[in-house]
Amino acid sequence: MCGIVAAVAEREVSPILLEGLRRLEYRGYDSAGLAVLDADARLQRHRAVGKVEALATAQSRQPIYGSLGIAHTRWATHGAPTEANAHPHMASDDVAIVHNGIIENHEALRGELTAAGYPFASETDTEVVVVAIHDRLAAGDDLLSAVKAVTARLEGAFALGVISRHEPGRLIAARRGSPLVVGIGIGEHFIASDVAALLPVTRDFVYLEEGDIADIRRDRLQILDAQGGAVERPVKTSSLTADAAERGGYRHFMAKEIHEQSRAVAETLEGRISDGHVLPQALGPQAAELLGAARRVQIVACGTSYHAGLVARYWFESIAGLPCEVEVASEYRYRPHVVPPDTLFLTLSQSGETADTLAALREAKGLGYKATLAICNVPESSLVRESDLVMMTRAGPEIGVASTKAFTTQLTALLLTVLAAARSKGLAGSEEATLVGALRQLPRQIDAVVGLEPRIEGLAEQFVDKHHSLFLGRGSQYPIAMEGALKLKEISYIHAEAYPAGELKHGPLALVDADMPVITVAPNDDLVEKLKSNLQEVQARGGRLLVFADEASAPAATADCQVMTLPAVHEVTAPLLYTIPLQLLAYHVAVLKGTDVDQPRNLAKSVTVE
Ligand code: AGP
Repeated sequence: MCGIVAAVAEREVSPILLEGLRRLEYRGYDSAGLAVLDADARLQRHRAVGKVEALATAQSRQPIYGSLGIAHTRWATHGAPTEANAHPHMASDDVAIVHNGIIENHEALRGELTAAGYPFASETDTEVVVVAIHDRLAAGDDLLSAVKAVTARLEGAFALGVISRHEPGRLIAARRGSPLVVGIGIGEHFIASDVAALLPVTRDFVYLEEGDIADIRRDRLQILDAQGGAVERPVKTSSLTADAAERGGYRHFMAKEIHEQSRAVAETLEGRISDGHVLPQALGPQAAELLGAARRVQIVACGTSYHAGLVARYWFESIAGLPCEVEVASEYRYRPHVVPPDTLFLTLSQSGETADTLAALREAKGLGYKATLAICNVPESSLVRESDLVMMTRAGPEIGVASTKAFTTQLTALLLTVLAAARSKGLAGSEEATLVGALRQLPRQIDAVVGLEPRIEGLAEQFVDKHHSLFLGRGSQYPIAMEGALKLKEISYIHAEAYPAGELKHGPLALVDADMPVITVAPNDDLVEKLKSNLQEVQARGGRLLVFADEASAPAATADCQVMTLPAVHEVTAPLLYTIPLQLLAYHVAVLKGTDVDQPRNLAKSVTVE
């Protein structure tokens, strides 16, 4: 999704802007640009379609210098990824803007401004904002007043960075619905969509709140809140270091992140379990009381996080006896709801900035839920700040668009939450101790499965020329099959569908032939014998199986059934472990196909627009 970086300093800012954009590449984008105010008070701009490197090349061929600048990576929404549509957008060489989000009333505004005689050079929604600001400047406003007046008229979501050639040394930032942080340097200030962009220049950040407008100069920061009053926001020091978001010897971030999972899961458990039980304080001081009072759970999330929610439904119902519903956020937010008393509203999100999930949370707040709980990987995200209870996953920065360690740490945090809730619902201490023991074993088991990578890499070759694939699972492994299918499709572009194996005979069996691999997750659980019958239905129709199982559950390996054996694992924690081989398989298929593994086409890491 679009990324913003901007700086006001004494030094030359172009290198800071370019490095910031490189660090935002993981968010997904299709063009990039920067504008700086030069020593002669002229706004100079470079824009390029494709990677930030293309922009860097333009800058090295014809350097533009200045100590005030804004930069952007664009993920196309309104208008194709062309140079004309790339940001920054400018009006009459007077004012330049970068924008993340969507202006919903852009057509009406464009109509007004066109009628007033202003020309437009792009198809974007953003350009209306810069032209409207220019219009206010022409009427005599200063830059801050112009941004205030224009943002008051905008509908939709935005994070903005604005500079003008008439006010050197001044950067205006505004935020509503899209994330924006201010980086505090020594005698210099920055803004960015994500702290990762600014870690080489500062670790001190102010997180802008909804409706804030920041008036930023090299040595001064003033923030106005949504009502226009001056407000102090706390400065927070990030614990991340500049190299936290680097590949560290791996070919791709995704590979690094798959390998980091045992440590990330161990860190997510750290300090939250003791003597065979979960410490409910891990979710905050009110957690024991609110979880104890909850009689139902509603989970809302998107994509991979939604799959984690689907696994958690099995756990909430079977371990805590709590009825649980799970829904994708983009659907939840747009339908009427009947909320039963004492229902806990639980959101899951790696980024904490996913527009649909945030909107669902905001919608839910007026619906009478008992409390809101967020399980999230980014401490200062909007989701965390707006929820009553929070359980942080401790995955560290996840850069690859395909979510891996965020998913397994979400599952870890979810199981901790389920156990904390189950205590007051009568879960026996001995059963809790068994499950805590199973959680403790996970880091070692994950390492053992990651150790199978060379063999999985070998299997990947069979997929390179395939166009379709089927993923099967039953019970809590069905969401894992869904997650495996999502991983394969998003990074290798092979069409992949997941089915609960018992559903095959109701339709998808018609697709099965020797050309469509059927990948199955089959740990030794209550449903494994039924699952094996479903696999025979596939073999009887000439289908080719790849089965991940343990020694006790493995079907006989044959010419049409390859089996990869995983360590034995407790039935409850098996979904975490069986995710790993599917991630590795998708990764190696994508590498063999030569796709852009970390930034797959058309996708963005943090989906901050609807
Ligand atoms: C999965 O690999 C994707 N990156 C995507 O489905 C992602 O999980 C979804 O966009 C939700 O993101 P979030 O967890 O940051 O809310």
